Formats: sequence, structure tokens, C-alpha cells
Amino acid sequence: MDRLMSSPRLMIVSDLDHTMVDHHDPENLSILRFNALWEAKYRHDSLLVFSTGRSPVLYKQLRKEKPMLTPDITIMSVGTEITYGNDMVPDEGWVEFLNQKWNKKIVSEETSKFSELTLQSETEQRQHKASFHVEKEKAQEVMKTLSERLASRGLDVKIIYSGGMDLDVLPQGAGKGQALAYLHKKLKDAGKLPKNTLACGDSGNDAELFTIPDVHGVMVKNAQEELLKWHAENAKDNPKIIHATERCAAGIIEAIGHFNLGPNISSRDVTDLSDAKLDHFDPAYEIVKFYLFFERWRRAEVENPEVYLSNLKSVCSPSGVFVHPSSVEQSLHDCIDRLKGCCGDKKDKHYRVWVDQVFPSQIDSDTWLVKFKKWELTGEEQQGCLTTVIVSSKGVKHTEGLTWVHVHQTWIDGTTQNTCDDWFF
Ligand code: GLC
Ligand code: MG
Repeated sequence: MDRLMSSPRLMIVSDLDHTMVDHHDPENLSILRFNALWEAKYRHDSLLVFSTGRSPVLYKQLRKEKPMLTPDITIMSVGTEITYGNDMVPDEGWVEFLNQKWNKKIVSEETSKFSELTLQSETEQRQHKASFHVEKEKAQEVMKTLSERLASRGLDVKIIYSGGMDLDVLPQGAGKGQALAYLHKKLKDAGKLPKNTLACGDSGNDAELFTIPDVHGVMVKNAQEELLKWHAENAKDNPKIIHATERCAAGIIEAIGHFNLGPNISSRDVTDLSDAKLDHFDPAYEIVKFYLFFERWRRAEVENPEVYLSNLKSVCSPSGVFVHPSSVEQSLHDCIDRLKGCCGDKKDKHYRVWVDQVFPSQIDSDTWLVKFKKWELTGEEQQGCLTTVIVSSKGVKHTEGLTWVHVHQTWIDGTTQNTCDDWFF
């Protein structure tokens, strides 16, 4: 949060399962489209918040399975755990606040009396969240009785039903909506209230996100029955909430456009990227565009490969150097020449490339240093590099794009290190 010096232009608060992440799309296309849009157009001045029902354990597992960006803030366990940054530093103030009027022991005692409730896995039982499975038909009755019994024992709790099967018991002050309200207050106190906030969700535990003042909301096309029912009963006439016509992350992009929150064209939707000219220098956009080209190149999806390659060479400085993550140095021009040999080498291999946390900083009037993580996925195997690129605008026009002067990569810990010869950039 400290990264931004002023109010974020846009704060996206998105649920993960079946909202940001489409579990029915093995190609992950909609999230990859979102990623390209976010990194090229929003990352530098906006905030990305993931708000999931998952515990930290299951959240980290999902990150390994899907091409997810790194959020600025992670809200987990249905708004009961808030963490900041890449190190996921917990918000202790939120923990203290939730401790009020909460007694997990009483919750366990009372819930154990219901044969309809089966406990979820151990990882999903958290300090401020007790989670169960319950059949759809029995959910309403169980929720009513349970809340009466807990109230009679002096507890003020919130019971939420999601996905037609999950039942969560939380402190009354918790939940995704309350966590968002808390963050808004924190940002406001720091003079950084976002200019716009877009909440995105698909199921019951997302409903409260849409009740926070001044928030735009999108229920993705594939939203669950319980969320649509909540909407019909509580927010039908609210023009700030839409039911998207597109699934998952594509619905989020749709909402950005619908509410006019900023650019809504992902570079992934542009077939001929050489046509996409800008009227100013934009290092983040150039990085996103280059790695999209790189993916298409290796998937054999580039028309006019020869033209592309010579254009690419012309934007690389003749004295430019690439330091490969194995620490071998090569000239950028030699690297471009080597690309010829890998055209189409990943065809039909479920190959994808994306960049995460693209942060450009201008180091003098015509030079930028851009840091980011570059990821490649081939089938199930994912690997990544921390990458630093120096680009320059010296002697070039906006329409020609920036000149690449230097590229340096190091393997990201914990990912498979590519020993064979197919990591090129
Ligand atoms: C996630 C959590 C689960 C919770 C559900 C609905 O699936 O893992 O514990 O019940 O979200 O909030
Ligand atoms: Mg969901």
C-alpha cells in the first residue's frame, strides 16, 4: 500500500474461485487477458486486492496452479485475514478487532450438535472462521437455528452460505465486505482513498462486497444462484452493480468498460501488435506487448515472422546485452537471431507467457528501469524469472517504441530451473 504516493486510480477487489480464476477454462484465457490489461495499464497507479474464502494454505496452492498475478493486498478466509505485499504481512489491527465478541470454543460446541454440518478440512478452520459443508436444502433451516443458539450464548456471529455447499461462521464484524470497508477507512486516513473501487464476485460470501458505499460491483456471468437471489432481493435497482454477460475475469474486464473505469482493451485481444502505436512512451505496455509477441512466436501464431523479427532487431540496441538466468551473457542482437530457431517450438504444448508486477521507474530524462517477474507455463510446468530491463527513448519517436538496452534475469526461487536450452528471454 505504501508503494503509491497518492490515491489509487482504481482498486479492484476480486474473489478468486470462479471469479478471477475460471476452473472450467483449461487455457486460462480470461485471466491471462486480465493480467495483460492490468500490468500494461493499471499496475503502476492502481491497487489489486484478492479477496478469497480460501485459507492461506489453499490460496498458496491456487497460486501454483493458475497464472495469477501478485496482489497488493490479500484478504483470505472470508475477510478474516488481511495481509499486505509480497511477504503477506498480516494486519494485526484487524485480528484485534475480530477478537471482540468472538469465542471459537462456543462456536465449535454449538455447531457439533448439528448432524447436517460436516466439518471442512483442517486447513480451512481458522482463528476467526469455522467452516462446514451442508446440503442446499437444509442450509436455510440450519443457519436460522444455529444463529439463534449462538445468540442465546451471547455470541454475535455472521453465518454465510456460498457455492451451494459451504457454510462459514465468522465474527459479526468480519466478512469480505467489512474487510473492504476497513481497508477503505485505512486508505482514507492515509489520504489515499481510491478514486474508484470495483468489487468482483460470484458467490454468497461476495454479496457484502457490493454493499460497501461508493463501490462498483460486478457479478460475473457464472454467478451462483445464492448471489443472484441476494441481488434480486436487495440490490435490483442499484445501477452500480451489474451481472456481466461474460464469465470470470472476462466479466471483470467487461465491468471496467461498462463503468468507464479506465482502459478496457487487453493487448491479448489485439491480433496485430505491431499496429498498436501509442502517442507517448510507455515502458510497462512495451514489456507486456513484447512477451505476448514472444508467446505467439513460440506458439506459431505470428503472421509475417520475418517482418516481426527485423522490427524487433531494430528496437534492440546493437550494444545491448542479455544476461541469461544461467548467467551466460549474449548480445541482444544474437538473442533475436536465436529466436528464429524457436518459432513454433511450443505449438500445441499449452504454452503461455505472462508478466507480473511490472514496475517501471524513470532513471533519467530518456531512460527507464523496468522490473517484473516473467513466467512461462508449458503444460503443467511453470517457471519464472525476476527480470530487469533498461529501455531508452533516446533518438526514437513515440511510434517506434523504446529501445531495449539491457536485460538481466535470475531464476525465481522454488520454480523449476530450466536446464535445457529453451529459455530465451
Ligand atoms: C473457500 C474456503 C472455504 C469456504 C468457502 C466459502 O472455498 O476454502 O473454507 O467455506 O470458500 O466461503
Ligand atoms: Mg468464488
